[in-house]
Amino acid sequence: MAAKLPFFALLLTVCCPAASGSKQPHIVFILADDLGWYDVGYHGSEINTPHLDKLSAAGVRLENYYVQPLCTPSRNQLMTGRYQIHTGMQHQIIWPCQPYCVPLDETFLPELLSEAGYATHMVGKWHLGMYKKDCLPTRRGFHSFFGYLTGSEDYYTHIRCSPIAALNSSRCALDLREEEAAAPGYKGAYSTELFSQRAVRIIAKHDPKKPLFLYVALQAVHSPLQVPERYVAPYAFIRDPSRRAYAGMVAAMDEAVGNISLALRQAGLWANTVLVFSTDNGGQTLEGASNWPLRGRKWSLWEGGVRGVGFVSGPLLQRPASASRELVHVSDWLPTLVGLAGGRLNATKPLDGFDVWNTISKGFASPRLELLHNIDPMYNDIAPCPGSKRLRAFDGDAGVFRSGFNVSVHAAIRSSNWKLLTGYPGCDVWFPRPGQNGSSPGASEPLKPVMLFDVLKDPEERNEVSALYPAVVERLLGRLSHHQQSALPVHFPDEDPRCDPGPTGAWGPWA
Ligand SMILES: *[C@@H]1O[C@H](CO)[C@@H](O)[C@H](O)[C@H]1NC(C)=O
Ligand SMILES: *[C@@H]1O[C@H](CO)[C@@H](O)[C@H](O)[C@H]1NC(C)=O
Ligand SMILES: *[C@@H]1O[C@H](CO)[C@@H](O)[C@H](O)[C@H]1NC(C)=O
Ligand SMILES: *[C@@H]1O[C@H](CO)[C@@H](O)[C@H](O)[C@H]1NC(C)=O
Ligand SMILES: *[C@@H]1O[C@H](CO)[C@@H](O)[C@H](O)[C@H]1NC(C)=O
Repeated sequence: MAAKLPFFALLLTVCCPAASGSKQPHIVFILADDLGWYDVGYHGSEINTPHLDKLSAAGVRLENYYVQPLCTPSRNQLMTGRYQIHTGMQHQIIWPCQPYCVPLDETFLPELLSEAGYATHMVGKWHLGMYKKDCLPTRRGFHSFFGYLTGSEDYYTHIRCSPIAALNSSRCALDLREEEAAAPGYKGAYSTELFSQRAVRIIAKHDPKKPLFLYVALQAVHSPLQVPERYVAPYAFIRDPSRRAYAGMVAAMDEAVGNISLALRQAGLWANTVLVFSTDNGGQTLEGASNWPLRGRKWSLWEGGVRGVGFVSGPLLQRPASASRELVHVSDWLPTLVGLAGGRLNATKPLDGFDVWNTISKGFASPRLELLHNIDPMYNDIAPCPGSKRLRAFDGDAGVFRSGFNVSVHAAIRSSNWKLLTGYPGCDVWFPRPGQNGSSPGASEPLKPVMLFDVLKDPEERNEVSALYPAVVERLLGRLSHHQQSALPVHFPDEDPRCDPGPTGAWGPWA
């Protein structure tokens, strides 16, 4: 790659005066759902992702890039540039019947881009609350919306089944909307194709004189494991049926990204486009994904849950064809993209994100020196984790404060090479590389309430070193305590039975 640099650099100075920033770039943000670290070709996966490999090879691969361990939290931080502790949404995701959404006094990324003159369109998964109309994407800055409001629905019928505890029953209903109205006419269309086709249509119809913000939040590659046979055919060699189906889903997703980038070229927009690709969290190993060789998975604060696949592509990058090892976080996109758009940030609440454009585009050091992964006093992992080293005694260790922080609380913080975890971080297993038998050898010690890793040297979190660096431990506990002081109380309301869409309705606002 390095040998190509001067060539690209030369091309840039000749071809692309837009890099000077005089013209607002088009911004296309593609978010994959539950894509694991080991699930792209360029991380060595047995799954082929030619489009992702090529786009990222010509762009900047973010190899020290972090997201949140779950869907709603990552999207929440993407849209607000703020940590979950500052929106009261530290805990889990928004379930279909919970009457809340990202607080309405938060300013969303598309609102800021719209204010800067952008046409703002969203396709795909929202998952930021919908119990009342004011929570919908069309009321939070998007000029158009085609997609769904919850998560986990069927890829073909677009029906989402959910238990409603208060009614002691379960409901299955459509979750697909065009603007704000239910869109029942797409039964049978595979969502990866449906959403990429919609994105392609938006691009083709876009007036190139106006800057475009297109947010494509794909359903792929979240469970359920559903995929047209043609995408799975090349993966007959994969024995595990979940991994095989998942591989096909990733292949379809890769094709979708290829189609979107082709549409940008065909529409003449590419020369002035910044394309961001990101996963929303680590892969779910119970559903075919892999984060190998990282520890843990989705829903945990181990690297397998939070170190995300991500890259930026497009001709505006000044140091393309490179890999960035600078610290970048999903909360950084809001200030970065609004900065690129020449928009205003003076009306938002205090941001936790940083403008990392110079880091990504020019290779400058990241302005981000610290990253709060989360603090969630109510944490629980709802999925099984066989082989966990969690100790029973661990649960009873409540209320031990160190440096002002209750170390029974699920929390993690990163500072340069150090990562400190407290409480139970979530499923702590090193899942084997796909296709290999048995569990990979890991440390045999049980988890401790306070753990320190040098994730720069030890990204697999195998060597717990808190005993060797007590001063680092105390400093980071102090930082957690500091952050906790600015946290809002956790808001995680009980289900509201009025959410019931009825037998023929669609999930959507009820209040
Ligand atoms: C819920 O339904 C189950 C099965 O029909 C029944 O056994 C249980 O008593 C019900 N619980 C409530 C609170 O109605
Ligand atoms: C990509 O475009 C091709 C050609 O139009 C189409 O056949 C294919 O279904 C598209 N793939 C996806 C995932 O949308
Ligand atoms: C933000 O800055 C603009 C331009 O300087 C100004 O017009 C606007 O009033 C400011 N908004 C706030 C909330 O300070
Ligand atoms: C410490 O945190 C744990 C886990 O959230 C909680 O159960 C316990 O009550 C807390 N202890 C105190 C003294 O706040
Ligand atoms: C895994 O184990 C199965 C059954 O014991 C065996 O058939 C297979 O070859 C093994 N695969 C690898 C990659 O070792």
